[in-house]
Amino acid sequence: MTTGSTDRRIDKLIHLLVKHATVVVPGPKIASEIGVTRFKVWEWIESLRRLGVEIRGVRGEGYQLVTVPDILAPSLLRAELGDHPLARHIVHYFRTESTNALALKLAGEGAEHGTVVLAEEQTAGRGRLGRAWYSEKSSGIYTSIILRPPLAPAAAPVLTLMAGLAAQKAVSAATGLPVDIRWPNDLLVDGKKVCGILTEMSAELDRLHAVVLGIGLNVNHSRMPVELENSATSLRMEAHRGISRVQVLVALLRELERHYQLLLKNGNKAITDRWEAASTFAHGKRVCVLTPSGVVQATTTGLDPSGALRIRHDDGRQESLVAGEVTEVR
Ligand code: BTN
Repeated sequence: MTTGSTDRRIDKLIHLLVKHATVVVPGPKIASEIGVTRFKVWEWIESLRRLGVEIRGVRGEGYQLVTVPDILAPSLLRAELGDHPLARHIVHYFRTESTNALALKLAGEGAEHGTVVLAEEQTAGRGRLGRAWYSEKSSGIYTSIILRPPLAPAAAPVLTLMAGLAAQKAVSAATGLPVDIRWPNDLLVDGKKVCGILTEMSAELDRLHAVVLGIGLNVNHSRMPVELENSATSLRMEAHRGISRVQVLVALLRELERHYQLLLKNGNKAITDRWEAASTFAHGKRVCVLTPSGVVQATTTGLDPSGALRIRHDDGRQESLVAGEVTEVR
């Protein structure tokens, strides 16, 4: 597979196989319906197999899906989401450097509000604070959503909290796992990270042009790399079963839209109140905070209306954190 966006005809091929999953679909029929040669069909079937899609080939007859594929193909997502606002512009890549980099580029070229960029694999996934994001092929959800909110740049921290809250609701509904949110928007299961969100934007002083919500979710990794195994986990490792990435992503897009509308309609407090109710980090949590003068311990005392995390230092001083990272003191 190349690094360009997925050929729409591969999406059609997946759709065709899913639609006729109970029968063997003749190669010539597939080729004529999607407008490519039979050889091309065979090549694409091989590529899909390499991504883990089980397709039975019957010599002289055609192809049949063995299981429903867990590929984040636009046609499979649209089959679930219908005319949902976040299903109108879906851009899928088998492999790209970073969906955030792509989404920022597309936003600069005028991509519409609600555009969803997806990749099965990232070769240079970006994390917060200049870190990398481990993006194993076909195991995680790597997505960047372009929003054009009618809000000032000061709203960006609450948009970020909103995304974490939506992701928490989606993941717990789709898996039944108890999911915590660490400020600002890491999702934790049993103290280990399963999801991270990198918000990037283009803005003027008083106007947001575009916000890119970059969400990375560890879904079906069967193990994490050694350097991450103490701090990160996957939904599969925690639930002890495979999880459908399509179902988690569908739930995520629905929750994102719901919480985004809630923010636009009811303002910051609708999000900060819900965030405080959903996170054990909101109140009374002993945390380590990285400050310019080093790491200090403090206790959390809630969110302020802008989304900043209030902490009380041990000498009684109060502070509001607008950026950075906190970790639980264990
Ligand atoms: C974090 O460090 O917690 C944030 C990680 C964000 C990773 C996602 S994966 C999809 C999107 N594309 C990227 O390059 N980064 C974000």
